[in-house]
Amino acid sequence: MSQAETVKPYRWLAQYYDEIFASMRSPADEARERLLSRIMSSVDSACDLACGTGTTALILARKGITMYAVDLSPLMCRLARKKASRAGLPLHILQADMRSFRLPKAVDLITCEFDALNHVPHRRDLRKVARAVARALRPGGHFFFDVNNSLGFKRYWTGAVWFEKPGVALVMRNGHSREADRAWSDVEWFIRHGRLWRRYHERVEEVCWDADEIRLTLQETGFDQVRAWDAAPFFKDNPLIGPGCRTFYLARKGGSPQPGLHQSSRAHRTSIHPGSPAA
Ligand SMILES: C[S@@+](CC[C@H](N)C(=O)[O-])C[C@H]1O[C@@H](n2cnc3c(N)ncnc32)[C@H](O)[C@@H]1O
Repeated sequence: MSQAETVKPYRWLAQYYDEIFASMRSPADEARERLLSRIMSSVDSACDLACGTGTTALILARKGITMYAVDLSPLMCRLARKKASRAGLPLHILQADMRSFRLPKAVDLITCEFDALNHVPHRRDLRKVARAVARALRPGGHFFFDVNNSLGFKRYWTGAVWFEKPGVALVMRNGHSREADRAWSDVEWFIRHGRLWRRYHERVEEVCWDADEIRLTLQETGFDQVRAWDAAPFFKDNPLIGPGCRTFYLARKGGSPQPGLHQSSRAHRTSIHPGSPAA
């Protein structure tokens, strides 16, 4: 069985993704703005890995950054392409696996947001993703991502969540296993087709790593600086995401020239003011 065959790409979740997870968007955007503020002036090209519907890739493209966007789900890629075309922004979209993707040229920044990194099928896949990311970055380039931690699995990968809008209803039945360091969501969809409702099933699984494992893997795959921030201060309005549940990481690929030697060629840059959680 090939690697890609062991991953079930989003199907119905892709279709309704932006609406279901709308409340997570602004904390994630704020975190990216603040935590990347110090490096953005040297970012001319970037890739959003596991890009979903392309929201983050388009935010970065709007800043004048040459953007690649990678996702394994054909439907996510199609939705991202549509959004880019509606926005009139250039986005190079590649349907590929985050464990093995390749870009046509090395980029300055790779983002992988909203616990997309937890979505790989095996514990050993963390190293594969880190290697593929290191290969796709220029020396001194950065990898920004967030993960769900074991405490997050315990807090919010549990119980049932209901969501509905006209013509669509879904229940997510969530579970986790501490021993296996895994979480899952069995999603039951009820979708109206004309006068009939049809039921569909979709399953999403996540793998969990601890902070030491993440740091060690990054060091072993060529990253020489790793910073981490707890996500809770960004999610103050979400009582589920408490301290320790979710972490943002920023890792720098080694072998960079002296700081300041990499000059951005972008004419216009957005100025961003670092906030307290990044300190
Ligand atoms: C929780 S969504 C995050 C989407 C996006 N990063 C965001 O912030 O909205 C996870 C995404 O990871 C993608 N994905 C899952 N496994 C993948 C893999 N092995 N390679 C690439 N993308 C993958 C899914 O298709 C989905 O779009």
